[in-house]
Amino acid sequence: MNVKVFDTKEAQDLLKAAANVGSEDGSARVQQIVSRLLGDLFKAIDDLDITPDEIWAGVHYFNKLGRDGEAALLAAGLGLEKFLDIRMDAADKAAEITGGTPRTIEGPLYVAGAPLRDAVSRIDVNPDEDAGPLVIRGTVTGPDGEPVAGAVVECWHANSKGFYSHFDPTGAQSEFNLRGAVSTAVDGKYEFRTLMPVGYGCPPQGATQQLLDVLGRHGNRPAHVHFFVTTDKYRKLTTQINIEGDPLIWDDFAYATREDLIPPVVEKIGGTALGMKTDAYKEIEFNIALTPLVQGRDNQLVNRLRASATA
Ligand SMILES: [Fe+2]
Repeated sequence: MNVKVFDTKEAQDLLKAAANVGSEDGSARVQQIVSRLLGDLFKAIDDLDITPDEIWAGVHYFNKLGRDGEAALLAAGLGLEKFLDIRMDAADKAAEITGGTPRTIEGPLYVAGAPLRDAVSRIDVNPDEDAGPLVIRGTVTGPDGEPVAGAVVECWHANSKGFYSHFDPTGAQSEFNLRGAVSTAVDGKYEFRTLMPVGYGCPPQGATQQLLDVLGRHGNRPAHVHFFVTTDKYRKLTTQINIEGDPLIWDDFAYATREDLIPPVVEKIGGTALGMKTDAYKEIEFNIALTPLVQGRDNQLVNRLRASATA
């Protein structure tokens, strides 16, 4: 029995009352968005004949999602965060902003407050037997290819277990392990001395993985390193690099991989002199090109709730 009630006066009056569209009170913008989303949900219930049992399963899923603190993780896993990137890319294209290192998703695991160093920072605070030493270095340049001095390059990544400090359920990592911030020198150079990350998997008992299981999808990411690059001269860049050779590079559950964000991993020696844990180490050169402000402002700066800590 598939009845359709969406277009009835009763249902339309209910939608209008619930979203309170046209009221003098509340936020007109929120009323507009709620009206649209709730209306789309009502219509979907009609069109797909979604049952009360399915609706209540969904409602209680939101409770679990909140208890697990995974709403931002689910946003990445369902491609919502990637969709925002697709829109920002399209807006850049429409505004004829070209070049620059590609953006990709921030993800939910940034922590503000990493100690800021000049040009070079060693960020592996805790020993990690299973992770080999890694240097990530490069030059930050502006739209004309000129080195940018004083840009703040932040990076964060997982350990050899796929866990991030601050969010590590084992408690094995201290605050800001594998998280760093450096200010570029006059030559625009930055360097992080760290350990090789591995890929990340969604918490197996969490709400995100629960939904992915039902969708028949995995919840894994290839090994990667996140970056923010901030300067008052150009637009902030939010991006990541993948570790070349990871089998999941093109099968990332969060859809963050991009062609230009897989720099080669090079074998090097001389790590001891750099304070690395072995003389042989791996190096990734990742050069970062920033894009210009638009009419003096960063038109794509994203404000969202972020964790913070003090070192
Ligand atoms: Fe990540």
